Amino acid sequence: MPDILDVISSRKSIRRYKPDPVPDEMLDKILEAARWAPTGENYQPWRFIVVRDQETRNRIGDLAKMGSGARMTAWHCMGHTQERFAGIEDPVKRERVLRFMYTGEVSEFAKQSPVVIAVIGTLMEGSVDVPYDLSAAIENMLLEAHALGLGACWVHGPVASTRDAKKFKEILGIPTGMGQYKVVAYVSIGWAAEARRYPRPKKALDEMVFWEKFGQTERPQHG
Ligand SMILES: Cc1cc2nc3c(=O)[nH]c(=O)nc-3n(C[C@H](O)[C@H](O)[C@H](O)COP(=O)(O)O)c2cc1C
Repeated sequence: MPDILDVISSRKSIRRYKPDPVPDEMLDKILEAARWAPTGENYQPWRFIVVRDQETRNRIGDLAKMGSGARMTAWHCMGHTQERFAGIEDPVKRERVLRFMYTGEVSEFAKQSPVVIAVIGTLMEGSVDVPYDLSAAIENMLLEAHALGLGACWVHGPVASTRDAKKFKEILGIPTGMGQYKVVAYVSIGWAAEARRYPRPKKALDEMVFWEKFGQTERPQHG
C-alpha cells in the first residue's frame, strides 16, 4: 500500500486547467472520498452540487473575480500586495502579477476547471460541526483528486461574505433562507495546466509543535 503521506505531501492547489473533461468514474471516486470523511456525531451534513455547465461556471467565476478584485484592490491601496510581491525583480512581471491579483482574475478559474463542486451543509439537522465536517470532506476530495492525477483547489474566498454566499446560492438554486444551508466552499477540479512544483513552502514542524506544554519546543525523553 502506498504511504498516504506521499499523496498528502505532493498535493498542491491547482488553479489552471486544461479543457479536457473529467471522467465520471473519477468524479464518483472524488465524491466517494468525501462521503467517508469523519463527521461530528456522524451527522454527514454535507451536500455536494456538481457543476459542469460552462454558463454556470462562468457565473461562479465572475462572482469570484468581483469579490477577489474588491478585496485585493483594498489590499493594494494599503500597499499589502506590493509588499507581498516585492521579491519579483522584473518590474514588468511584477506589474503583471499585481494586475492579475487586483483585477480579481486570480480567482476566476471556475470558468476554466471542467468541474466545480459546491460544498454546502444542511443546518436543519442539528449538527453544530458543519464547517469542520465539510472541511474534512473537502480535504478528502482534494487528496483523491490528486491521487487520480487531477488538480484541484479549495475555494472559500468568493463565498466568505454573506452577500456573496447569497449570490452563490442564487446561481445554484440553493434555498437562501436563514438557517437552511451554509455554503462553505467550492472545489474546482480538472487536469492541471500548470507545472506542479512541490512541496510548496511549509513551516517546519518545530515551528508549530509543542511538547506537553504550550511553548515547550524540546521533545522530552519518554519510555
Ligand atoms: C479554508 C481554505 C480556503 C481557501 N480559499 C481559497 C480561495 O478562495 N482561493 C484560492 O485560490 N485558494 C484558496 N485556498 C487554497 C490555498 O490558497 C492553498 O491551500 C494554500 O495557498 C497552500 O497551497 P497548497 O494547497 O498548494 O499547499 C483555500 C484553502 C483553504 C484550506
